[in-house]
Amino acid sequence: MLNVNNGGRANANELLDIDIKSFDDPWSAEHWSEIVDSPHHSIVVARLYGTPIAFVVFQATPATVTILKLCVKQQHRRNGASLRLLATVFAYARTANAPEVCIVVPESTIYPGPRNVSKYLQHVGFVATTPFIKGHFHVYGEPEDGVMFIAPSTTIVREPT
Ligand SMILES: CC(C)(COP(=O)(O)OP(=O)(O)OC[C@H]1O[C@@H](n2cnc3c(N)ncnc32)[C@H](O)[C@@H]1OP(=O)(O)O)[C@@H](O)C(=O)NCCC(=O)NCCS
Repeated sequence: MLNVNNGGRANANELLDIDIKSFDDPWSAEHWSEIVDSPHHSIVVARLYGTPIAFVVFQATPATVTILKLCVKQQHRRNGASLRLLATVFAYARTANAPEVCIVVPESTIYPGPRNVSKYLQHVGFVATTPFIKGHFHVYGEPEDGVMFIAPSTTIVREPT
């Protein structure tokens, strides 16, 4: 049974494990330790029969909720896990009266190819904005521009059944 919760302290090692298996440039173990202890970050974890299979990390300001990282373990994709997590983030944004939710992704992931995320983001309701954000990411030590996608916080209002 898939469970989504943001109660309690997330386990940095479990999240690091999902991160490493999902991204070419995962956050370091040190960074994950800081994130799980940070009062400025929120983490929601999806668990299948108690085992973490997906997470979302986000930050809130009065104007915007910003998703810093969203990922679902490969073998559990296309089963609604990300929508369950996003529904929680969007509900949080509405409760906080933040009008929009945004996510910044590396420019290289918006073009056709195996790492493409723009189709997914557009499918769930985000719209890409311009101009790109100069040098927002450092991938393997090289600066890479970021592309901000934005969705009104009313976009995802209900969790899928
Ligand atoms: C992108 C990602 C988070 C999607 O997670 P997921 O749990 O498989 O997505 P869901 O099953 O919740 O799918 C939600 C909707 O998006 C669609 N979708 C999922 N992956 C998609 C893709 N790669 N391209 C287009 N649409 C996609 C689903 O069909 C579903 O549509 P529906 O509601 O009409 O049925 C997951 O593939 C992932 O972790 N990828 C690697 C890390 C990454 O790229 N993170 C995202 C950064 S924005």
